[in-house]
Amino acid sequence: MERFQKIIWNKKYQKEYEKLQEMEKGRKFCCHDMEHFLAVARLCYIFVLEEQREISKDVIYGTAFLHDLGRVAQYETGISHEEAGAELAEEILMECGYNEEERKTMIETILSHRSLKQDDTTFAGIFYKADKLSRDCIHCKAKEECYWPEDKKNHIYIC
Ligand SMILES: [Fe+2]
Ligand SMILES: [Fe+2]
Repeated sequence: MERFQKIIWNKKYQKEYEKLQEMEKGRKFCCHDMEHFLAVARLCYIFVLEEQREISKDVIYGTAFLHDLGRVAQYETGISHEEAGAELAEEILMECGYNEEERKTMIETILSHRSLKQDDTTFAGIFYKADKLSRDCIHCKAKEECYWPEDKKNHIYIC
């Protein structure tokens, strides 16, 4: 988990993360903070173990902690957060010593983390499931105003 730890201490990462927390202060909809990133990472790790896949914790945790970081650019310019996040992740992952193959997997996953992956058995498919299952749409106080269509909301906690 040495490379993942480097992400946490990466200056660019920290700056962007702090900015995001500042921007989402008081947000009534889902927030994109450590609680969310950790939930996604842990669920994704469980799914990877269950499916006996060989995907390193560095890749799982790194992707989870980076996948919504593009929210800052989305709030500022309107660009999609998966696109902005992928760009940011590329820079940070290089600085943290991830190799080309890992970066490719992680960037592809970040880019596609909002599109439905029915029966997708790739890492991106597993990650999509973890991201979605990390949310508690049933008890959400803002569910009536949420822009997520009903079929995208999470109404199950296991799969
Ligand atoms: Fe997202
Ligand atoms: Fe997310």
